[in-house]
Amino acid sequence: MPTPLNDDRQFGHILQWLNQKTGLDCQFYKINYLKRRLAIRLRATNSNNYGEYYDVLRREPEEYKILLDRLTIHVSHFFRDAAVYKCFGRLVLPELKKRERIRIWSAGCANGEEPYSLAMLFYELKLLGKPLSILATDIDQTCLTRAREGIYKESALQEVSPEMRRRFFQGSGDRWQVVSTLRELVTFEANDMTGALPAGPFDLIVCRNVMIYFTSPLQSQLMTRFHDLLRPNGYLILGKTEVLLSEYRSRYRSVNLEERIYQRQEMPPAED
Ligand SMILES: C[S@@+](CC[C@H](N)C(=O)[O-])C[C@H]1O[C@@H](n2cnc3c(N)ncnc32)[C@H](O)[C@@H]1O
Repeated sequence: MPTPLNDDRQFGHILQWLNQKTGLDCQFYKINYLKRRLAIRLRATNSNNYGEYYDVLRREPEEYKILLDRLTIHVSHFFRDAAVYKCFGRLVLPELKKRERIRIWSAGCANGEEPYSLAMLFYELKLLGKPLSILATDIDQTCLTRAREGIYKESALQEVSPEMRRRFFQGSGDRWQVVSTLRELVTFEANDMTGALPAGPFDLIVCRNVMIYFTSPLQSQLMTRFHDLLRPNGYLILGKTEVLLSEYRSRYRSVNLEERIYQRQEMPPAED
């Protein structure tokens, strides 16, 4: 007899249902992660097992949207992990600013905090008239709509310096909007990273706190794709808890290991 939360058949039904309804292909996500997130919805809907929760999903049309929201965690804030941004500002930003044009991709951008943080750092290039484009993608349409509006609570701005707040935000209390001159620098688009990725090349790819949810084969595939999508000497930044898989260490030079900042390395020519 399967235990209530160990019934793989019913668990599979839920994932299939979700895939049909939302297009989210859960085969690329870590099973334990999916089970942990599902357990939250089981508790919230008073379901005792996956079978009961599957019935809820079929009965209540709103539930799959809530489940999708719980599966794709959107926690973020401006300049998340301040040390990473400091290190980036010291070791990478000056070099990138010298390039003739800059293309940046924030992959898994949540509500836009990450790409807008980058836009603030690169803003002076816009003033200098240098071509600068920041593409920000996420699987979640609701997030993208919020990101385009650029309205945030005070808690999201904790790491924003007073000077940046004056320059780049309008509002007061618990409602702050990113100014339109900064919003214009970022293009938000839907993209599911388990499928086709946006077209490169990029000078910088920031993919933080997204791949932790993915299976190792997908992480591996993405590391290869990022390498292909980066310009020579382009940079890649991962989340603090994400590590570069060992087989990719020859493809990326470590700019700062602790802060997960890497630079694309050229592959040695293949031997005949
Ligand atoms: C925790 S947030 C990370 C936000 C930001 N990068 C940061 O580090 O603060 C993870 C984001 O990844 C997105 N995500 C999850 N699965 C995805 C997929 N298959 N393709 C694209 N984005 C995905 C979620 O919707 C969520 O907004």
